[in-house]
Amino acid sequence: MASSDLSAPIALTGDVAIPTVGLGVYTITDAAVCEASVKAALESGYRLVDTAVVYGNERPVGRGLAASGVAREDVVVTTKMWLQDYAYEAAVASIEASLERLAVDYIDLMLLHQPYPDYSGAWRAMEEAVDAGKIRAIGVSNFEKSDVEHLMTFARIKPAINQIEMHPYYQRPELVAFLKQQGIAIESWAPLGHGKAQLLAEPVFAELAAAKGKTKHQVILRWHLQQGFVVIPKSTNPAHIAANRDVFDFELTDDEMARIAALDTGKPNRRMPRWLQRWMFPTFRARQLA
Ligand SMILES: NC(=O)c1ccc[n+]([C@@H]2O[C@H](COP(=O)([O-])OP(=O)(O)OC[C@H]3O[C@@H](n4cnc5c(N)ncnc54)[C@H](OP(=O)(O)O)[C@@H]3O)[C@@H](O)[C@H]2O)c1
Repeated sequence: MASSDLSAPIALTGDVAIPTVGLGVYTITDAAVCEASVKAALESGYRLVDTAVVYGNERPVGRGLAASGVAREDVVVTTKMWLQDYAYEAAVASIEASLERLAVDYIDLMLLHQPYPDYSGAWRAMEEAVDAGKIRAIGVSNFEKSDVEHLMTFARIKPAINQIEMHPYYQRPELVAFLKQQGIAIESWAPLGHGKAQLLAEPVFAELAAAKGKTKHQVILRWHLQQGFVVIPKSTNPAHIAANRDVFDFELTDDEMARIAALDTGKPNRRMPRWLQRWMFPTFRARQLA
């Protein structure tokens, strides 16, 4: 049973803490919709937004942030550096470009989006940006255990967080145990399994939703939170956005957690195998929305 306050932000570094529920904006390719979704999220109490250079929507995220009227220092803005910018000079330029597109003086959390190709120059550029006050905390995404171990052979600043695919169909117990042992926070991407019908149709979610007086989506998000994960569900629907943060007034028992744990398939959702990603991803060039 969860005992601590799961609505309390999780400490990343000495002075940076990350809210446990944020808004993800992947696949929101309409600038006006993106801006409105970020604004709606912040107005409904969110204090974490997750974007990436490759999503192409840093500018509308920045406008949504400004339009919300929420104080800049109260929001954790996350973005991710894309692979084409991993050489040191390109990484320095990429950080400046993200600052400009987001229209902020500093980025709260910047992640390496993928563990390839060579990201050592990018990490150094991010460490220097931390020193310069342009980034407050740095971390990684899609890093396996061996990738984290490799990064730590040369990192001056330890990664504060690893954003990984995580949902009831893909639970990654070994990676989770390793990251927890290392004191690296875990952030679940696709926490709702991309909202795919098959996962939502699992009877346990309807049953628990009815028992708790919550929705199936809220039950899944609560399952993440009770394991200490940060969640960043994507939504453009204001009702969904508000509901996804309304997850702090109920609890799942150990037995209920175990029933959801039993759904693990050990397989990710993503269609492209990692060896193919290594070839394909560096060729993607994001079109940046105005
Ligand atoms: N680091 C990486 O490589 C990586 C990869 C993928 C994603 N991410 C991050 O993770 C975030 C979330 O992942 P995701 O967008 O792939 O999937 P997700 O959040 O698991 O699922 C999003 C889907 O669920 C629906 N949904 C959300 N809340 C709902 C609710 N309360 N009721 C009904 N439907 C709901 C959304 O539709 P509506 O818009 O209609 O609500 C959307 O179709 C991304 O936006 C991104 O920030 C990171």
